[in-house]
Amino acid sequence: MTDSVVQPTPSVRASQASVANIRELVEVFYRRVDEDPLLGPVFARELAGRWDAHLAKMTTFWSSLVLGTKDYCGNVQEAHRPLGDIEPQHFARWITLFLDTVESRYEPAAAVQFMEPALRIAQSLQLSKFGWDYRIPEAQVALLASLRRLRRGERETEAAEHLRDRSGATSFPVNVTDTGSEKS
Ligand code: HEM
Repeated sequence: MTDSVVQPTPSVRASQASVANIRELVEVFYRRVDEDPLLGPVFARELAGRWDAHLAKMTTFWSSLVLGTKDYCGNVQEAHRPLGDIEPQHFARWITLFLDTVESRYEPAAAVQFMEPALRIAQSLQLSKFGWDYRIPEAQVALLASLRRLRRGERETEAAEHLRDRSGATSFPVNVTDTGSEKS
């Protein structure tokens, strides 16, 4: 990886995701991955000479998921299929580093938007890697369940606010039936 100018821990957490702060999240997360004794060698081997492309792709991926930009086109399952030497502890470390990095950069409501899909995708990667009878660690299952509830709660609050904002609005254009034709 190349040298970075992004602060590992910002002094203020972002209240909302943006392409700019997602780019920084990705950079800081993969720097930690790269320096990690367990994950570092896997990524160094797989991404030798391709780090910049990976970081750009992951920025697009998270922007698509969290901001709905829809410009990620790839296959997450296929991308991980060739990684033969991945074990449960690699996932545990990936998840720990990711959640910790997100938590240090975003306020809770924004953090949940990253954490919930990360855990959901991790779970499906674990099941395809280790077999459908693999038992996902209980703490991970419980965390995903509470992140789901939080994320659903966020969406419901947003929807309620949206409805409240619109409650003073007129439902139909005023005088929609007044075509002026009766004036003659
Ligand atoms: C043990 C945990 C993991 C390891 C070791 C790992 C490793 C990798 C590696 C080496 C690549 C690059 C593949 C390539 O371009 O050749 C990759 C790509 C990717 N990873 Fe992971 N990964 C892990 C977990 C996750 C999780 C939990 C997510 C969920 C967000 C994720 C999302 C992605 C995505 C979106 C790509 C790009 C896929 C594409 O090429 O379109 N990874 N991962």
